[in-house]
Amino acid sequence: MKKDEQNYFDQEKAKSYDAKFSKISLMKDTLHLLSTFVLSDLPDDTHMLCVGVGTGPELLYMAEHFGSWKFDIIEPSEPMLKVCIENCKRAGIDSRCNFHLGDLDSFVGNRKYDVATSFLVSHFITDLKQRVNFFKSIKANLRSGGLLVNADLTGDINSTHFQSILKVWRKCLLFTGMEESEVNKMCASFGVDVGMIKPIEVEDMLREAGFEEPTLFYQALFIHSWFSKSV
Ligand SMILES: C[S@@+](CC[C@H](N)C(=O)[O-])C[C@H]1O[C@@H](n2cnc3c(N)ncnc32)[C@H](O)[C@@H]1O
Repeated sequence: MKKDEQNYFDQEKAKSYDAKFSKISLMKDTLHLLSTFVLSDLPDDTHMLCVGVGTGPELLYMAEHFGSWKFDIIEPSEPMLKVCIENCKRAGIDSRCNFHLGDLDSFVGNRKYDVATSFLVSHFITDLKQRVNFFKSIKANLRSGGLLVNADLTGDINSTHFQSILKVWRKCLLFTGMEESEVNKMCASFGVDVGMIKPIEVEDMLREAGFEEPTLFYQALFIHSWFSKSV
């Protein structure tokens, strides 16, 4: 995580996060729906670890779909976690959740999990070695054969393909109602504060961290999602 990361998802961002992206929520809803199919063979007493849950969209979706599952939730931004807890209470799922304020490194689990999610988190770790360590820490919390579902912004920043997708990405962000200056800022963060690497490099990282057969099951513009198994 970069030094400013703890403050990046501050009070203001946390309050507006869900509404801000509501017009393009279909993209993430599709990811969540497909993830439920990926995970549908897991047993009723499954324990899921949600890493970097933000305001909780994947957690809310999984908890509604898998009504008997239990969840341990890791989130380093207090304002984001507060919104997540409010969302969980409103949805009536908070009794199945344990919330941990802090990043993955500060988490000491008292069990091995059947599955972990990391949605739109690891690309904020710009140091490649630290990013591999992030996935290694997830693996350390999983039982043997446990699953990881991760989604990350990825792309080959030096390719013309990247520039073509960037044009569409800009339109997508403008469609949310964001000011052009903010869209420009977000796009300028690629390769600087957002570690844009090629999809194949993410797959190599997952393998290096101890996950086998990373399988790309969903892509929406820069968002790429894999499932893989802890060896
Ligand atoms: C873009 S948000 C995504 C939130 C949610 N997963 C979603 O899909 O909407 C990224 C979140 O990851 C959290 N985060 C960043 N680094 C983290 C780390 N090392 N461990 C756990 N969470 C982290 C941030 O605080 C932020 O809430």
